[in-house]
Amino acid sequence: MSSDPIIAAVGSARPRIEGRLKVTGTARYAADQPMPDTAHGWMITATVSRGRIRDIDASAALGMHGVLGVLDHRNAPRLNPQASNYFGPDGSLLLLQDDVIPHAGRPIALVVAETLEQARAAAEAVRVIYEPQPHDMDFRLEHPSARPASTAFGPEADTGDVEAELAASAVVVNERYRTPEENCGAMEPHAAIAWWEDGHLHAVDSNQGPFSVSQVLSTLFLMDRERVHIRAEHVGGGFGAKGLCGPQLILAAMASGRFGRPVRVTLTREQVFLATALRPPTDQWLRIGAGADGRLRAIHHRPAFALSPLAEYIEWCSEQAKTLYTAPAIRTELTAVPIDILPPCSMRGPGATPGSFALESAMDEVAERLGIDPLELRLRNQPTVGPVSGLPFSSRRSIACLREGARRFGWAGRDHRPRTRREGHLLVGTGMATTVFSAGVFPSSASITAEADGTFTVAVGATDIGTGARTALTAVAADALEVGTEKIRIRIADSDLGMAWNAGGSRGTTSWSFAITEAAKELREQLSDPERPVTATVDTTPLINYRPTRERHTYSAVFAEVSVDPVTGEVRVRRMLGMFAVGRVINPLLARSQVVGGMIMGLSMALHEEGVRDPATGRQVNADFAGYHIAAHADVPDIEAEFVPDYEPEDPSGLNGLGEIGTAGTAAAIANAVWHATGTRQRTLPIRLDRVLETETAAIDVRVGGVGVA
Ligand code: MOS
Repeated sequence: MSSDPIIAAVGSARPRIEGRLKVTGTARYAADQPMPDTAHGWMITATVSRGRIRDIDASAALGMHGVLGVLDHRNAPRLNPQASNYFGPDGSLLLLQDDVIPHAGRPIALVVAETLEQARAAAEAVRVIYEPQPHDMDFRLEHPSARPASTAFGPEADTGDVEAELAASAVVVNERYRTPEENCGAMEPHAAIAWWEDGHLHAVDSNQGPFSVSQVLSTLFLMDRERVHIRAEHVGGGFGAKGLCGPQLILAAMASGRFGRPVRVTLTREQVFLATALRPPTDQWLRIGAGADGRLRAIHHRPAFALSPLAEYIEWCSEQAKTLYTAPAIRTELTAVPIDILPPCSMRGPGATPGSFALESAMDEVAERLGIDPLELRLRNQPTVGPVSGLPFSSRRSIACLREGARRFGWAGRDHRPRTRREGHLLVGTGMATTVFSAGVFPSSASITAEADGTFTVAVGATDIGTGARTALTAVAADALEVGTEKIRIRIADSDLGMAWNAGGSRGTTSWSFAITEAAKELREQLSDPERPVTATVDTTPLINYRPTRERHTYSAVFAEVSVDPVTGEVRVRRMLGMFAVGRVINPLLARSQVVGGMIMGLSMALHEEGVRDPATGRQVNADFAGYHIAAHADVPDIEAEFVPDYEPEDPSGLNGLGEIGTAGTAAAIANAVWHATGTRQRTLPIRLDRVLETETAAIDVRVGGVGVA
């Protein structure tokens, strides 16, 4: 639109638009929203894992200074029981509706007072009398309630004759891999402030998708969606747990309606652990058979994940077995085990992250038993079409990731035998893994206005949860309009901006960019005719092909080097390298930051993260960052992350997803490196000191004796 040549914005490294606001503390997060006359809610959560509420005695609390009231199942507003999430009906949204306690941490009351301190003090004075019932925390693949998981993400694989191929294999790996319950643990705790005005519900909330949150609330409160206005201007991480409507917002909305004032509900860190969302534990049975030539003959993956009876969910651990390698026989049997835990949800590379830990650990074991290079094993089993779907692949730069990653990491010349490298008393090893994560686009809308001053206002219901979405979308809009980025004003994070997909499922930026690109096309046409409006709005719903004709994924290869201290059991990651194929990279600076963050999450999963429950009470005993360990600065080495040149032909801008692929392959790469260092397989995460020591005990006796002599 300008006659000057424009430098394409997509592809160039630029800092975050809102970076200055964030580092100067002027960016307002949900709990920072100033609002006159705000009352404060304090959530009370159940302390038993299953049962009923016999009584809630709030009499003492109600007499305390500043207390406005206590909402519980006897007096709270009624909610519409039809509420659902992406997977189906979701009872976790129906707060304060009955006396049933489905899991420890379930919000059962909200104390509302003039100040946060008054609400907290009054909450301590509320007496809850429970009628506990026996709970079931016995998660395992063989649990009597285990059942096939929902196939809403696609049918299970069942090609070829698995048993015959296994019988004909030269080597068979037949193992169990386990990952623990994990908590999303975003830095900013869930928080919301809600108020009602003229029959409209307004809220500033911390979430990954204001539009979908407004849909959930409008269903819960039986009102037109247009009367629900949700904003999420700045969000301090979501990690999956803010993908749906959180308890803070439902309770704040209820209470502000009841007390006729804005109500703020902020969760404590412990409440974030107990009452928001978690990654379910997995228990995965995997069998892989291969011929002496290093070609796979069969993959059989039966992963189980824990579920809550309250809500359907799919931890899609079987995706990778269906698409990563070719084999004459592939069978997947994703299994759900309902137990009495907090309902699981998507977390940091859902499904693929625990699933690839199992599959890529098992592949390493196949390479070990065949005596071949684990990288070579991967290269030898690359499919040319979807191994189960039979569909052609869209851009598939998996081999490029493997080869280029290996080159940069210095994989060539590695002695593939374990326990061969030592530095002092430390054992040193390297490992690798490769992964896919499904990619695509979901419906969104965008609207662009040509302003009188020559700038463009771009409105899209996107959310920036710390990834740099605002900055990336500005670049996409600038290129689509053929103007410089300084001409673009981007408006996001408001449900009034129209239907939009969440910042989730690695599909936020692709979905929003598609809508922006289409709106820009439309606007440029309109601008050629002075009679036509200067705003173009496009909803991509009719433009999306809902029956995929190609397999579309993002790819990675992750390499890690670890040292293991056989005396203390400590594993340290010394260096890591990730090569990624994610379609065209919009902003290399932000993209690199995002996948490095993902790899740190994978490191954290491999070595630290583990939600621990007391079997007697069923409660999580480490619901804080003192007990639930996450990788800290000292745990994280130099991490190299790069992108192979890639262009997704199905996307108008060549984009694919970038969100989850950073995390997915890391844990297996580290576990495989630990095997290479020690000679022992760690098939259960996290790789704790005691798990390493258990297998190192014999070696320690020898070595300590040796040190003594020296
Ligand atoms: Mo992402 S874990 O799909 O929010």
